[in-house]
Amino acid sequence: MRSATYLSELFSLDDRVAVVTGGSSGIGRAIATALACAGARVVLVARRETELAATVGDLDSRGCSAAWVAAHLGTREGVRAAAEEAVSHFGEPDILVNSAGINLRPPMAELDDDVWDATMAVNLEAPFLLGRRFGPGMAERGFGRLIHVSSQQAHRAFVQSGAYGVSKGGLESLARSQAEAWSPYGVTANTLVPGFVMTPLNQQLSSDPERVAALAARTMIGRNGLAEDFAGAAVFLASRASGYVTGQSIFVDGGLSVH
Ligand SMILES: NC(=O)c1ccc[n+]([C@@H]2O[C@H](COP(=O)([O-])OP(=O)(O)OC[C@H]3O[C@@H](n4cnc5c(N)ncnc54)[C@H](OP(=O)(O)O)[C@@H]3O)[C@@H](O)[C@H]2O)c1
Repeated sequence: MRSATYLSELFSLDDRVAVVTGGSSGIGRAIATALACAGARVVLVARRETELAATVGDLDSRGCSAAWVAAHLGTREGVRAAAEEAVSHFGEPDILVNSAGINLRPPMAELDDDVWDATMAVNLEAPFLLGRRFGPGMAERGFGRLIHVSSQQAHRAFVQSGAYGVSKGGLESLARSQAEAWSPYGVTANTLVPGFVMTPLNQQLSSDPERVAALAARTMIGRNGLAEDFAGAAVFLASRASGYVTGQSIFVDGGLSVH
């Protein structure tokens, strides 16, 4: 078999529809771009319209099919509305990527109810609600891919993990619960686990060259992550190739977690 056909049978996302939350920035944007370039029609969900439109413009210029939905995933109503608007573009999704996330980092003693609620709503509840909305349809159709973006903070305390680390621990457990529920029907659920990635989420930390260098030294590869580092793993998890991989947390962290 020629390599192009072989690779295409394993990894092509032609005819697939993907919804990517947080698809307008950082890791989510890189994942949305990878899925779109691999053939999927992609719907991006986030709050800021300018960033969404710019990302879709970039995907259009690459010959990809993409659309956007401006929504606040911090409320149940916002999530429901986002899901219904998302399907209005290309139909029900085959792939859901939950990359939207916030990290507010107050010291533990100052972590108030509002920060806790906001963190759980965006980082954990929205992925649950979207999974409950899209998972059963994927199972009925016999194919689906639920991909969450977690954090090393699901596994270790790091720079005021506070509510954020808790939400990411829950997210990895959610992936295992979803995997248990829907894997028999062709729907896998997995998590990508970043280490330290240079994105707008980390603006404060990223602007301190000494801390950036110290973090890079803690990896095995010798540098911090880039959003583009997630492209290959995301296409793998979204494709037929990963059909027997489910309930897993896959670290894309340059070896940070195994030191
Ligand atoms: N960067 C890292 O080092 C790192 C490490 C571990 C895990 N992660 C995880 O990776 C994921 C992506 O983070 P990133 O570093 O790529 O950050 P980012 O560049 O700040 O992207 C976050 C995305 O989430 C969207 N978003 C945030 N709150 C939202 C809300 N309430 N409703 C809808 N969309 C919302 C943002 O768009 P709007 O602001 O326009 O809504 C943006 O598109 C997050 O889940 C994060 O926890 C990142």
